[in-house]
Amino acid sequence: MNSGGQRSLRPATAPRKVFVEAFGCQMNVLDGELAISKLSETGWVRTQDDSEADLIIFNTCSVRDQSEHRVWSRLGALRERKAMDPSLLIGVMGCMAQREASEILRRMPHVDIVCGTRRFPSMDAIVERAERGGQVLAVETDGFVDVRRDVTIRPDRHRAFVSVMRGCDHKCSYCIVPKTRGPQIDRPVVDILDEVRRLADDGVREVMLLGQNINTYGRYLDERPTLATLLRAVHEVPGIARIRFLTSNPMDLREELLRTMGELPKACGYLHFPAQSGSDSTLRRMRRGYTRSRYLELCAAARELCPGIELASDFIVGFPGETEDEFQATRSLVAEVGFKQIYVFKYSVRPGTAAAAIADDVPEDVKSLRCNDLLDLQETVSAERNRAKIGSRVEVLVDGPTRRDASRLSGRDDGNSTVIFEGSPSLAGALVGVRVTWVTAPVLYGDLVPDSER
Ligand code: 5AD
Ligand code: SF4
Repeated sequence: MNSGGQRSLRPATAPRKVFVEAFGCQMNVLDGELAISKLSETGWVRTQDDSEADLIIFNTCSVRDQSEHRVWSRLGALRERKAMDPSLLIGVMGCMAQREASEILRRMPHVDIVCGTRRFPSMDAIVERAERGGQVLAVETDGFVDVRRDVTIRPDRHRAFVSVMRGCDHKCSYCIVPKTRGPQIDRPVVDILDEVRRLADDGVREVMLLGQNINTYGRYLDERPTLATLLRAVHEVPGIARIRFLTSNPMDLREELLRTMGELPKACGYLHFPAQSGSDSTLRRMRRGYTRSRYLELCAAARELCPGIELASDFIVGFPGETEDEFQATRSLVAEVGFKQIYVFKYSVRPGTAAAAIADDVPEDVKSLRCNDLLDLQETVSAERNRAKIGSRVEVLVDGPTRRDASRLSGRDDGNSTVIFEGSPSLAGALVGVRVTWVTAPVLYGDLVPDSER
């Protein structure tokens, strides 16, 4: 147990400040926002500066060992500060909190709150309990996850994440997510639409629908909606100009969804669907449920049904038993598909997963070489693909001025590229045309196209 006892009294007028740092995926970022939204109901305000925070929450990820290491060291670094200021509250939420709850309480007695992946919507009550003293553990896995929130509390004015499902029913052999986030739970269409409408009324133009395995959305709802029917419903919400979604498992991706994306003007031409490997034998060991040729078939279908679509993927290198030939199959897939973007991860053993029972036999230096090799290849591909865009006109949703130079605006095009150009800050939230004049691998630069030429 920690130092416990009553917390020092603060002036009733001073708002208490919460600092939340998210590790890992977009779902985690959103869960952090939902926790802040709950806390705001009891007077907490968000701060971006942890040194002035009364409550520090690490919203953690367990997908790789390294993500957990970072949190252990961040927690360790707060030990001294807590000793100097016992009124400081420290919380851990997310996948690592779920997985390592008792270890966190044991190794980090200065931590006040450990809140798992299904209890964070009660963060207000959990913090109130912690304020009364003692460590609070909230890691139950049963029950409904109430993701309703105050839509006005969010970091971006014109873009927002919306949770449409939680958990995952698959058992990819390397993945800890089904353990930390539990089985799939779908959110009813009416709830999602209600939130999207309220977001649109508050100025949001682009929504990103989030689910760990979003292509199976709806299978547990009575009316059996699909992601395609959900996209159609969200498309009708006035004010929303763009719809994106994450993450697609190729195993569950159907041509019907691609057709719907092609038909709906507001559905963005961007598909993130992780291949993980280009080798059939590795895919089998990963228990991914598709082959290289099925993956390539889906890429071709996406390009046919949604002309101009940008494809993005994740890859794991150094999966147990990955031979040089298997790695070369992944390399050739990356060269063949021509992704807009890829994320490459060195395999990391996750305790309790099926792959943890197989020897982690690819040496670390080989994993690093393969990782760098894929990233180098992709950089060449991305630069080439971007160069082909010089002279073309892209449609950009403007976020606002860049951090470095207030006279320049930054936004995203339909294919999720960052676009930078000169313009008035009043354009934030607008959809504008930009003529691309030069490019780097990650960014397009250009000039605003006047309205008369649009
Ligand atoms: N080791 C390395 N990378 C992993 N990922 C998931 N589990 C592991 C693991 N055990 C990667 C996958 C996934 C991304 C979010 O993280 O590529 O798509
Ligand atoms: Fe993990 Fe596979 Fe589920 Fe994705 S689909 S969350 S990789 S188990």
